[in-house]
Amino acid sequence: MYKTVYIHTFGCQMNVHDSEKMLGILEKQGYTPTDTPEKADLIIFNTCSIRQKAEQKFYSELGRIKSCKKKRPGLRIAVAGCIARQEGGNIFRRAPHVDFVFGPQNLHILAGLCEGGVDAVSISDNPNIAAENLPVRRNDGVKAWVTVMYGCNNFCSYCVVPFARGREGSRPSGNIYEEVSELAVKGYREITLLGQNVNSYAGDTDFTGLLKKLDRVSGIERIRFVTSHPKDLSYDLIHAMRDLPKVCEHIHLPLQSGSSAVLDRMNRKYTYEDYREKVSYLREEVPGIAITSDIIAGFPCETDDDHLLTVKALKEIEFDGIFAFKFSPRPFTKAARMPGHLPDSVKSMRLYEILEIQDEITLSKNKSLVGTIQEILIEGESETDCHKLCGRTRSNKIITVQKTEGLTKGALVKVRMNKARKHSLEGEPVQE
Ligand code: SAH
Ligand code: SF4
Ligand code: F3S
Repeated sequence: MYKTVYIHTFGCQMNVHDSEKMLGILEKQGYTPTDTPEKADLIIFNTCSIRQKAEQKFYSELGRIKSCKKKRPGLRIAVAGCIARQEGGNIFRRAPHVDFVFGPQNLHILAGLCEGGVDAVSISDNPNIAAENLPVRRNDGVKAWVTVMYGCNNFCSYCVVPFARGREGSRPSGNIYEEVSELAVKGYREITLLGQNVNSYAGDTDFTGLLKKLDRVSGIERIRFVTSHPKDLSYDLIHAMRDLPKVCEHIHLPLQSGSSAVLDRMNRKYTYEDYREKVSYLREEVPGIAITSDIIAGFPCETDDDHLLTVKALKEIEFDGIFAFKFSPRPFTKAARMPGHLPDSVKSMRLYEILEIQDEITLSKNKSLVGTIQEILIEGESETDCHKLCGRTRSNKIITVQKTEGLTKGALVKVRMNKARKHSLEGEPVQE
Protein backbone atom coordinates (compact mmCIF):
# COMPACT_ATOMS: atom_id res chain seq x y z
CA MET A 1 0.00 0.00 0.00
CA TYR A 2 1.18 3.51 -0.85
CA LYS A 3 1.80 5.49 2.35
CA THR A 4 3.10 8.97 3.04
CA VAL A 5 5.06 10.46 5.91
CA TYR A 6 5.49 14.07 6.98
CA ILE A 7 8.40 14.90 9.30
CA HIS A 8 8.58 18.20 11.13
CA THR A 9 12.15 18.70 12.34
CA PHE A 10 13.14 21.07 15.14
CA GLY A 11 16.63 21.73 16.51
CA CYS A 12 20.20 21.09 15.43
CA GLN A 13 21.94 19.38 12.49
CA MET A 14 21.85 16.12 14.39
CA ASN A 15 18.08 16.18 14.34
CA VAL A 16 18.01 17.20 10.68
CA HIS A 17 20.21 14.21 9.89
CA ASP A 18 18.20 11.88 12.15
CA SER A 19 15.14 12.83 10.10
CA GLU A 20 17.06 11.77 6.97
CA LYS A 21 17.69 8.43 8.66
CA MET A 22 14.02 8.07 9.63
CA LEU A 23 13.08 8.66 5.99
CA GLY A 24 15.69 6.10 4.92
CA ILE A 25 14.17 3.46 7.22
CA LEU A 26 10.58 4.35 6.31
CA GLU A 27 11.30 4.24 2.59
CA LYS A 28 12.11 0.55 3.03
CA GLN A 29 8.69 0.20 4.70
CA GLY A 30 6.99 1.61 1.61
CA TYR A 31 6.59 5.21 2.77
CA THR A 32 7.22 8.27 0.62
CA PRO A 33 7.76 11.73 2.06
CA THR A 34 5.19 14.51 1.67
CA ASP A 35 5.36 18.25 2.43
CA THR A 36 1.69 18.47 3.44
CA PRO A 37 0.73 17.15 6.88
CA GLU A 38 -2.94 16.99 5.81
CA LYS A 39 -2.03 14.30 3.25
CA ALA A 40 0.18 12.21 5.51
CA ASP A 41 -0.53 8.73 6.94
CA LEU A 42 2.21 9.22 9.47
CA ILE A 43 3.36 12.50 11.05
CA ILE A 44 6.61 12.57 13.02
CA PHE A 45 7.72 15.47 15.16
CA ASN A 46 11.49 15.29 15.59
CA THR A 47 11.81 17.54 18.60
CA CYS A 48 14.40 19.74 20.31
CA SER A 49 14.61 20.52 23.99
CA ILE A 50 17.67 22.75 24.15
CA ARG A 51 15.77 25.86 25.32
CA GLN A 52 12.25 26.44 26.59
CA LYS A 53 11.30 28.24 23.37
CA ALA A 54 12.06 25.18 21.23
CA GLU A 55 9.87 23.05 23.48
CA GLN A 56 7.00 25.55 23.38
CA LYS A 57 7.16 25.70 19.58
CA PHE A 58 6.79 21.93 19.38
CA TYR A 59 3.82 21.76 21.77
CA SER A 60 1.96 24.46 19.87
CA GLU A 61 2.53 22.58 16.57
CA LEU A 62 1.41 19.35 18.20
CA GLY A 63 -1.80 21.03 19.33
CA ARG A 64 -2.44 22.35 15.85
CA ILE A 65 -2.15 18.92 14.26
CA LYS A 66 -4.92 17.49 16.47
CA SER A 67 -7.59 18.45 13.93
CA CYS A 68 -5.82 16.38 11.22
CA LYS A 69 -6.40 13.27 13.30
CA LYS A 70 -10.13 13.99 13.56
CA LYS A 71 -10.34 14.34 9.79
CA ARG A 72 -8.17 11.27 9.12
CA PRO A 73 -8.79 8.58 11.73
CA GLY A 74 -6.07 6.30 10.25
CA LEU A 75 -3.40 8.93 10.78
CA ARG A 76 -0.59 8.02 13.18
CA ILE A 77 1.35 10.67 15.09
CA ALA A 78 4.80 10.04 16.54
CA VAL A 79 7.02 12.18 18.74
CA ALA A 80 10.76 11.61 18.28
CA GLY A 81 13.96 13.39 19.25
CA CYS A 82 15.12 15.04 22.42
CA ILE A 83 11.76 15.89 24.05
CA ALA A 84 10.61 12.33 23.35
CA ARG A 85 13.47 10.85 25.32
CA GLN A 86 13.12 13.44 28.07
CA GLU A 87 9.34 13.10 28.54
CA GLY A 88 8.60 9.51 27.43
CA GLY A 89 5.02 8.49 28.24
CA ASN A 90 4.24 11.88 29.85
CA ILE A 91 3.61 13.12 26.33
CA PHE A 92 0.42 11.03 26.11
CA ARG A 93 -1.00 12.81 29.16
CA ARG A 94 -0.49 16.15 27.53
CA ALA A 95 -1.42 15.01 24.02
CA PRO A 96 -3.56 11.84 23.87
CA HIS A 97 -3.64 12.10 20.08
CA VAL A 98 0.01 10.94 19.95
CA ASP A 99 0.42 7.25 19.01
CA PHE A 100 4.03 6.54 19.83
CA VAL A 101 7.18 8.12 21.20
CA PHE A 102 10.81 7.20 20.43
CA GLY A 103 14.18 8.68 21.34
CA PRO A 104 17.25 9.66 19.26
CA GLN A 105 18.90 6.28 19.99
CA ASN A 106 15.78 4.30 19.02
CA LEU A 107 15.27 5.18 15.35
CA HIS A 108 15.51 1.51 14.35
CA ILE A 109 12.06 0.83 15.83
CA LEU A 110 10.59 2.40 12.68
CA ALA A 111 11.71 -0.71 10.79
CA GLY A 112 8.92 -2.65 12.53
CA LEU A 113 6.20 -0.15 11.79
CA CYS A 114 4.42 -2.19 9.15
CA GLU A 115 4.71 -5.57 10.83
CA GLY A 116 2.54 -5.30 13.90
CA GLY A 117 3.37 -1.72 14.81
CA VAL A 118 5.78 -0.46 17.46
CA ASP A 119 5.86 -0.05 21.23
CA ALA A 120 4.15 3.08 22.53
CA VAL A 121 7.36 4.30 24.18
CA SER A 122 10.96 3.47 23.08
CA ILE A 123 13.44 5.72 24.80
CA SER A 124 15.99 3.41 26.41
CA ASP A 125 19.76 3.82 26.03
CA ASN A 126 20.79 1.88 22.95
CA PRO A 127 24.58 1.48 22.67
CA ASN A 128 24.08 -0.70 19.58
CA ILE A 129 23.03 2.24 17.47
CA ALA A 130 26.67 3.21 16.86
CA ALA A 131 27.37 -0.20 15.31
CA GLU A 132 24.38 -0.06 12.96
CA ASN A 133 24.45 1.43 9.50
CA LEU A 134 21.02 2.97 9.19
CA PRO A 135 19.76 3.74 5.69
CA VAL A 136 19.66 7.48 4.94
CA ARG A 137 17.51 9.42 2.50
CA ARG A 138 19.42 12.57 1.52
CA ASN A 139 18.07 15.25 -0.80
CA ASP A 140 20.97 17.55 -1.42
CA GLY A 141 23.37 15.69 -3.76
CA VAL A 142 26.43 17.83 -2.97
CA LYS A 143 26.73 18.20 0.82
CA ALA A 144 26.03 15.39 3.27
CA TRP A 145 25.86 14.99 7.04
CA VAL A 146 27.54 11.89 8.43
CA THR A 147 27.12 10.81 12.06
CA VAL A 148 30.38 9.79 13.73
CA MET A 149 29.15 9.59 17.29
CA TYR A 150 25.96 9.56 19.32
CA GLY A 151 25.16 11.07 22.72
CA CYS A 152 27.18 13.23 25.09
CA ASN A 153 28.96 12.53 28.39
CA ASN A 154 29.96 16.07 29.28
CA PHE A 155 27.09 17.24 31.48
CA CYS A 156 27.66 20.96 31.08
CA SER A 157 25.51 22.20 33.94
CA TYR A 158 22.99 24.09 31.74
CA CYS A 159 22.56 21.44 29.07
CA VAL A 160 19.80 18.88 28.56
CA VAL A 161 21.57 17.00 25.74
CA PRO A 162 23.22 14.27 27.88
CA PHE A 163 19.77 13.49 29.29
CA ALA A 164 18.03 13.76 25.93
CA ARG A 165 20.56 11.87 23.79
CA GLY A 166 22.10 9.38 26.18
CA ARG A 167 25.72 8.29 26.55
CA GLU A 168 28.46 8.64 23.96
CA GLY A 169 28.98 5.90 21.42
CA SER A 170 31.27 6.11 18.39
CA ARG A 171 30.75 4.42 15.02
CA PRO A 172 33.56 2.15 13.80
CA SER A 173 35.82 4.14 11.46
CA GLY A 174 35.46 1.51 8.72
CA ASN A 175 31.68 2.02 8.60
CA ILE A 176 32.13 5.78 8.37
CA TYR A 177 34.77 5.36 5.64
CA GLU A 178 32.42 3.14 3.65
CA GLU A 179 29.53 5.58 3.95
CA VAL A 180 31.72 8.49 2.84
CA SER A 181 33.13 6.47 -0.08
CA GLU A 182 29.59 5.66 -1.25
CA LEU A 183 28.67 9.34 -1.00
CA ALA A 184 31.67 10.23 -3.17
CA VAL A 185 30.57 7.71 -5.80
CA LYS A 186 27.10 9.30 -5.80
CA GLY A 187 28.68 12.68 -6.55
CA TYR A 188 28.77 14.29 -3.10
CA ARG A 189 31.60 16.79 -2.71
CA GLU A 190 31.41 17.83 0.94
CA ILE A 191 30.78 15.96 4.17
CA THR A 192 30.15 17.28 7.66
CA LEU A 193 30.95 14.87 10.47
CA LEU A 194 28.41 15.10 13.26
CA GLY A 195 28.64 14.58 17.00
CA GLN A 196 27.83 16.64 20.10
CA ASN A 197 31.52 16.58 20.87
CA VAL A 198 33.34 15.19 17.84
CA ASN A 199 36.77 15.62 19.45
CA SER A 200 35.96 12.87 21.92
CA TYR A 201 35.29 10.41 19.08
CA ALA A 202 36.62 7.08 20.32
CA GLY A 203 36.05 4.38 17.73
CA ASP A 204 38.89 2.08 16.70
CA THR A 205 40.94 5.28 16.25
CA ASP A 206 40.67 8.83 17.64
CA PHE A 207 39.13 11.80 15.82
CA THR A 208 42.42 12.85 14.21
CA GLY A 209 42.91 9.28 12.96
CA LEU A 210 39.39 9.34 11.52
CA LEU A 211 40.07 12.61 9.67
CA LYS A 212 43.29 11.18 8.22
CA LYS A 213 41.40 8.16 6.95
CA LEU A 214 38.55 10.18 5.41
CA ASP A 215 40.93 12.66 3.79
CA ARG A 216 41.92 9.83 1.43
CA VAL A 217 38.44 9.31 -0.04
CA SER A 218 38.74 10.44 -3.65
CA GLY A 219 35.87 12.57 -4.95
CA ILE A 220 35.23 14.22 -1.59
CA GLU A 221 36.71 17.72 -1.72
CA ARG A 222 35.78 19.15 1.66
CA ILE A 223 35.52 17.78 5.18
CA ARG A 224 33.89 19.70 8.02
CA PHE A 225 32.91 18.68 11.54
CA VAL A 226 30.65 19.94 14.36
CA THR A 227 30.81 20.45 17.29
CA SER A 228 34.23 20.73 18.94
CA HIS A 229 34.59 21.10 22.69
CA PRO A 230 37.48 23.42 23.67
CA LYS A 231 38.63 21.09 26.45
CA ASP A 232 39.14 18.24 23.95
CA LEU A 233 40.62 20.26 21.10
CA SER A 234 44.05 18.64 20.91
CA TYR A 235 47.21 19.98 19.29
CA ASP A 236 47.16 16.82 17.25
CA LEU A 237 43.78 17.81 15.78
CA ILE A 238 45.01 21.35 15.07
CA HIS A 239 47.97 19.85 13.18
CA ALA A 240 45.59 17.61 11.25
CA MET A 241 43.53 20.68 10.28
CA ARG A 242 46.76 22.29 9.09
CA ASP A 243 48.06 19.29 7.16
CA LEU A 244 45.04 17.51 5.67
CA PRO A 245 44.10 19.17 2.39
CA LYS A 246 40.38 18.40 2.52
CA VAL A 247 39.73 19.47 6.10
CA CYS A 248 38.30 22.98 5.85
CA GLU A 249 39.62 26.07 7.64
CA HIS A 250 36.66 26.53 9.96
CA ILE A 251 35.95 25.48 13.50
CA HIS A 252 32.85 25.97 15.61
CA LEU A 253 34.26 26.20 19.12
CA PRO A 254 31.63 27.22 21.67
CA LEU A 255 33.11 29.52 24.34
CA GLN A 256 29.83 30.07 26.29
CA SER A 257 31.28 32.78 28.57
CA GLY A 258 34.38 34.96 28.89
CA SER A 259 34.37 34.59 32.68
CA SER A 260 36.37 31.65 34.03
CA ALA A 261 34.23 31.67 37.19
CA VAL A 262 31.08 31.21 35.10
CA LEU A 263 32.81 28.58 32.93
CA ASP A 264 33.59 26.68 36.12
CA ARG A 265 29.95 26.75 37.23
CA MET A 266 28.98 25.66 33.72
CA ASN A 267 31.27 22.63 34.19
CA ARG A 268 33.06 23.42 30.93
CA LYS A 269 36.47 22.30 32.29
CA TYR A 270 38.54 25.09 30.70
CA THR A 271 39.32 28.69 31.63
CA TYR A 272 39.08 31.68 29.36
CA GLU A 273 42.90 31.71 29.24
CA ASP A 274 43.01 28.07 28.07
CA TYR A 275 40.52 28.93 25.37
CA ARG A 276 42.48 31.97 24.17
CA GLU A 277 45.67 29.98 23.99
CA LYS A 278 44.05 27.36 21.77
CA VAL A 279 42.58 30.04 19.52
CA SER A 280 46.01 31.69 19.14
CA TYR A 281 47.58 28.38 18.24
CA LEU A 282 44.79 27.57 15.76
CA ARG A 283 45.31 30.92 14.03
CA GLU A 284 49.07 30.44 13.93
CA GLU A 285 48.93 26.95 12.48
CA VAL A 286 45.88 27.18 10.20
CA PRO A 287 46.10 30.45 8.26
CA GLY A 288 42.77 31.95 7.27
CA ILE A 289 40.81 29.80 9.72
CA ALA A 290 37.36 31.09 10.62
CA ILE A 291 36.33 30.58 14.23
CA THR A 292 32.68 30.69 15.25
CA SER A 293 31.20 30.21 18.69
CA ASP A 294 28.19 29.97 21.01
CA ILE A 295 27.58 32.31 23.94
CA ILE A 296 25.04 32.04 26.78
CA ALA A 297 23.84 35.34 28.26
CA GLY A 298 22.69 35.51 31.88
CA PHE A 299 23.79 32.20 33.40
CA PRO A 300 22.67 31.98 37.09
CA CYS A 301 24.66 34.34 39.34
CA GLU A 302 26.38 35.95 36.32
CA THR A 303 27.45 39.40 37.56
CA ASP A 304 27.83 42.57 35.52
CA ASP A 305 31.58 41.99 35.73
CA ASP A 306 31.22 38.44 34.37
CA HIS A 307 29.16 39.80 31.50
CA LEU A 308 31.79 42.45 30.81
CA LEU A 309 34.39 39.70 30.61
CA THR A 310 32.31 38.06 27.87
CA VAL A 311 32.11 41.39 26.04
CA LYS A 312 35.89 41.75 26.42
CA ALA A 313 36.39 38.21 25.11
CA LEU A 314 34.33 38.93 21.99
CA LYS A 315 36.46 42.01 21.28
CA GLU A 316 39.72 40.18 21.97
CA ILE A 317 39.02 37.03 20.00
CA GLU A 318 37.02 38.54 17.14
CA PHE A 319 34.95 35.53 16.14
CA ASP A 320 33.80 35.24 12.53
CA GLY A 321 30.27 34.73 13.86
CA ILE A 322 28.42 33.56 16.95
CA PHE A 323 25.12 32.11 18.06
CA ALA A 324 24.07 33.68 21.33
CA PHE A 325 21.20 32.66 23.59
CA LYS A 326 19.57 33.74 26.83
CA PHE A 327 20.12 31.14 29.53
CA SER A 328 17.08 28.86 29.72
CA PRO A 329 16.59 26.49 32.70
CA ARG A 330 16.18 22.90 31.47
CA PRO A 331 14.81 19.78 33.13
CA PHE A 332 17.28 17.52 35.04
CA THR A 333 20.13 20.04 34.72
CA LYS A 334 22.21 21.33 37.65
CA ALA A 335 21.99 24.93 36.53
CA ALA A 336 18.19 24.86 36.70
CA ARG A 337 18.53 24.15 40.44
CA MET A 338 21.27 26.74 41.09
CA PRO A 339 20.47 29.88 43.05
CA GLY A 340 20.78 33.32 41.46
CA HIS A 341 18.56 33.06 38.39
CA LEU A 342 18.46 36.44 36.65
CA PRO A 343 15.36 38.32 35.54
CA ASP A 344 14.52 38.01 31.86
CA SER A 345 15.07 41.75 31.37
CA VAL A 346 18.73 41.39 32.46
CA LYS A 347 19.29 38.38 30.21
CA SER A 348 17.71 40.23 27.27
CA MET A 349 19.85 43.31 27.81
CA ARG A 350 23.05 41.29 28.00
CA LEU A 351 22.10 39.25 24.93
CA TYR A 352 21.34 42.44 23.01
CA GLU A 353 24.71 43.91 23.90
CA ILE A 354 26.54 40.71 22.91
CA LEU A 355 24.79 40.54 19.54
CA GLU A 356 25.35 44.22 18.81
CA ILE A 357 29.08 43.99 19.44
CA GLN A 358 29.42 40.79 17.45
CA ASP A 359 27.46 42.17 14.47
CA GLU A 360 30.08 44.84 14.00
CA ILE A 361 32.91 42.32 14.29
CA THR A 362 31.24 39.89 11.84
CA LEU A 363 30.83 42.66 9.27
CA SER A 364 34.41 43.85 9.60
CA LYS A 365 35.67 40.25 9.31
CA ASN A 366 33.68 39.85 6.10
CA LYS A 367 34.93 43.20 4.80
CA SER A 368 38.52 42.11 5.34
CA LEU A 369 37.94 39.42 2.70
CA VAL A 370 36.96 41.91 -0.02
CA GLY A 371 39.54 41.75 -2.83
CA THR A 372 40.69 38.23 -1.95
CA ILE A 373 40.13 35.18 -4.12
CA GLN A 374 38.42 32.22 -2.45
CA GLU A 375 37.41 28.73 -3.53
CA ILE A 376 33.62 28.38 -3.51
CA LEU A 377 31.54 25.21 -3.63
CA ILE A 378 28.30 26.12 -5.39
CA GLU A 379 25.35 24.84 -3.35
CA GLY A 380 22.44 26.02 -5.50
CA GLU A 381 20.23 28.99 -6.25
CA SER A 382 20.27 31.92 -3.85
CA GLU A 383 17.16 31.93 -1.65
CA THR A 384 16.67 35.67 -2.04
CA ASP A 385 17.58 36.25 -5.71
CA CYS A 386 16.79 33.77 -8.50
CA HIS A 387 19.44 35.35 -10.76
CA LYS A 388 22.16 34.35 -8.35
CA LEU A 389 23.80 31.19 -7.08
CA CYS A 390 25.11 30.74 -3.60
CA GLY A 391 27.94 28.73 -2.16
CA ARG A 392 30.45 28.68 0.65
CA THR A 393 34.14 29.32 1.09
CA ARG A 394 36.22 26.70 2.84
CA SER A 395 35.95 28.96 5.88
CA ASN A 396 32.15 28.56 5.69
CA LYS A 397 31.26 32.11 4.57
CA ILE A 398 28.18 32.34 2.38
CA ILE A 399 28.94 33.86 -1.05
CA THR A 400 26.55 34.84 -3.83
CA VAL A 401 27.57 35.00 -7.49
CA GLN A 402 25.69 35.93 -10.66
CA LYS A 403 24.36 32.91 -12.58
CA THR A 404 26.48 32.17 -15.63
CA GLU A 405 26.63 29.43 -18.23
CA GLY A 406 28.38 26.33 -16.98
CA LEU A 407 28.27 27.32 -13.32
CA THR A 408 26.19 24.65 -11.63
CA LYS A 409 25.50 23.13 -8.24
CA GLY A 410 28.49 21.13 -7.07
CA ALA A 411 31.07 23.19 -9.02
CA LEU A 412 34.23 24.32 -7.26
CA VAL A 413 35.17 27.79 -8.50
CA LYS A 414 37.62 30.54 -7.68
CA VAL A 415 35.74 33.73 -6.84
CA ARG A 416 36.93 37.27 -6.16
CA MET A 417 35.12 38.87 -3.20
CA ASN A 418 33.57 42.18 -4.23
CA LYS A 419 31.19 43.25 -1.48
CA ALA A 420 30.66 42.29 2.15
CA ARG A 421 27.42 42.14 4.12
CA LYS A 422 26.75 40.90 7.63
CA HIS A 423 25.62 37.41 6.65
CA SER A 424 27.24 36.96 3.25
CA LEU A 425 29.57 38.32 0.60
CA GLU A 426 29.12 38.94 -3.10
CA GLY A 427 31.72 37.75 -5.56
CA GLU A 428 32.53 37.06 -9.19
CA PRO A 429 34.24 34.01 -10.66
CA VAL A 430 37.78 34.56 -11.91
CA GLN A 431 39.65 32.74 -14.67
CA GLU A 432 42.63 30.81 -13.41
N1 SAH B 1 27.41 20.03 21.73
C1 SAH B 1 27.57 21.34 21.38
C2 SAH B 1 26.33 22.18 21.30
C3 SAH B 1 25.15 21.86 22.06
S1 SAH B 1 23.75 22.85 22.04
C4 SAH B 1 28.58 21.96 22.33
O1 SAH B 1 28.96 21.40 23.31
O2 SAH B 1 29.00 23.04 22.06
C5 SAH B 1 24.17 24.33 21.21
C6 SAH B 1 24.30 25.52 22.08
O3 SAH B 1 23.10 25.80 22.76
C7 SAH B 1 25.32 25.41 23.18
O4 SAH B 1 26.62 25.60 22.74
C8 SAH B 1 24.88 26.50 24.14
O5 SAH B 1 25.45 27.74 23.81
C9 SAH B 1 23.38 26.58 23.89
N2 SAH B 1 22.64 26.05 25.03
C10 SAH B 1 22.61 24.80 25.50
N3 SAH B 1 21.83 24.70 26.59
C11 SAH B 1 21.34 25.95 26.82
C12 SAH B 1 20.48 26.50 27.81
N4 SAH B 1 19.99 25.76 28.80
N5 SAH B 1 20.18 27.82 27.73
C13 SAH B 1 20.70 28.59 26.73
N6 SAH B 1 21.51 28.12 25.79
C14 SAH B 1 21.84 26.81 25.82
FE1 SF4 C 1 25.60 20.02 25.99
FE2 SF4 C 1 28.03 20.35 26.90
FE3 SF4 C 1 27.35 18.05 25.72
FE4 SF4 C 1 27.58 20.28 24.28
S1 SF4 C 1 29.22 19.24 25.37
S2 SF4 C 1 25.93 18.79 24.16
S3 SF4 C 1 26.85 21.86 25.67
S4 SF4 C 1 26.56 18.83 27.66
FE1 F3S D 1 19.94 19.09 19.04
FE2 F3S D 1 18.02 20.24 20.35
FE3 F3S D 1 18.55 17.76 20.85
S1 F3S D 1 19.90 21.17 19.79
S2 F3S D 1 20.69 17.54 20.42
S3 F3S D 1 17.82 18.61 18.91
S4 F3S D 1 18.03 19.26 22.33
